[in-house]
Amino acid sequence: EAAASGVIARYRDWLPIGDDDPVVSLGEGGTPLVRAHSLSDELQCDVWLKVEGANPTGSFKDRGMTVAVSKALAEGATAVVCASTGNTSASAAAYAARAGMRPIVLLPAGRIAAGKLAQAVIHGAHIVQLDGNFDDCLDLARQLADQYPVALVNSVNPVRLEGQKTAAFEIVDALGDAPEVHVLPVGNGGNISAYWRGFTQYAEKGLATRRPKIWGFQAAGAAPLVNGAPVAEPDTIATAIRIGRPASTELAVAAKNESGGGFWAVSDTEIMNAQAYLAQREGVFVEPASAAGVAGLLSLAERDEVPARLSITVTVTGHGLKDIDTALSALPSLNGGPVEAEVVPAELGAVAQAC
Ligand code: F0G
Repeated sequence: EAAASGVIARYRDWLPIGDDDPVVSLGEGGTPLVRAHSLSDELQCDVWLKVEGANPTGSFKDRGMTVAVSKALAEGATAVVCASTGNTSASAAAYAARAGMRPIVLLPAGRIAAGKLAQAVIHGAHIVQLDGNFDDCLDLARQLADQYPVALVNSVNPVRLEGQKTAAFEIVDALGDAPEVHVLPVGNGGNISAYWRGFTQYAEKGLATRRPKIWGFQAAGAAPLVNGAPVAEPDTIATAIRIGRPASTELAVAAKNESGGGFWAVSDTEIMNAQAYLAQREGVFVEPASAAGVAGLLSLAERDEVPARLSITVTVTGHGLKDIDTALSALPSLNGGPVEAEVVPAELGAVAQAC
């Protein structure tokens, strides 16, 4: 039974789940921490990738969703609602399906990667596509949950961050201490806040000797935390982080400030180049938003702003297969040729010549 693994089973004492509470789990967490050889060489640092695409629905959202849906079930909810740029809805749909609850998802129409939409559809979510952006969807999801008997499972639900903090625990458990720097993409500001809480709690309990500086990266067209002001019309190829009014702004800013970290913006081109770099140099295929952290690291390194010999962990948040349209459409300009391969006769000579 999957409930024997998963973040609640492994970190129950650190989570707001009572001994008798039901556990809705798909065996999330326990994701690979992969040494990034090329990045480490290039930066003269020790760089590790926390590969969150290896979670059951292909993103870090599952860590929070197991806790949120377990809680909702304990409280007698029969339906859950969320706003999403795609991954939260995929995760909510899967965990609600497992719990026998009805998932309702509010999505910005036309801005959800096909793989994520397919996940919501196949898990049986009730999908409402809005003529608006993610920020509008979240406003409405909150109002729905206020006025109707449906549990909100966005990261404004505090138990989501509790689940997501377990990724920081896993990093410290694997490395034996916290890294000096932790890097991640930032959209709604939930995950950065969760990591900071996780690193802080481990340090307070003496399980780590230090807390990392937190370096957060946003897409240039959707960078309210970098700008210090909301963005009315956020836009980026990295649809997962196309967010103009982050719900967890305060916690995210606190994570940056208390850690002595920073926020920076990366361009869509830098994001797509970083996605290709990860795929072609490290063997790790992530979705565009997930490459924002590496894009940022590479861009800081280019400006000589990354001191040598740092230990750095980078969360790559979601699986590349979620958004193959964007990955393939970016390739021609990166590789100098079209994606379609030439078709050759099924003969060794012709094949050898084509290689
Ligand atoms: N990376 C991916 C792949 C995401 O899906 C998200 C957020 C983030 C990074 C940013 O994390 O919002 O906690 O700062 N996706 C949300 C969603 C908004 O609806 O799936 P954050």
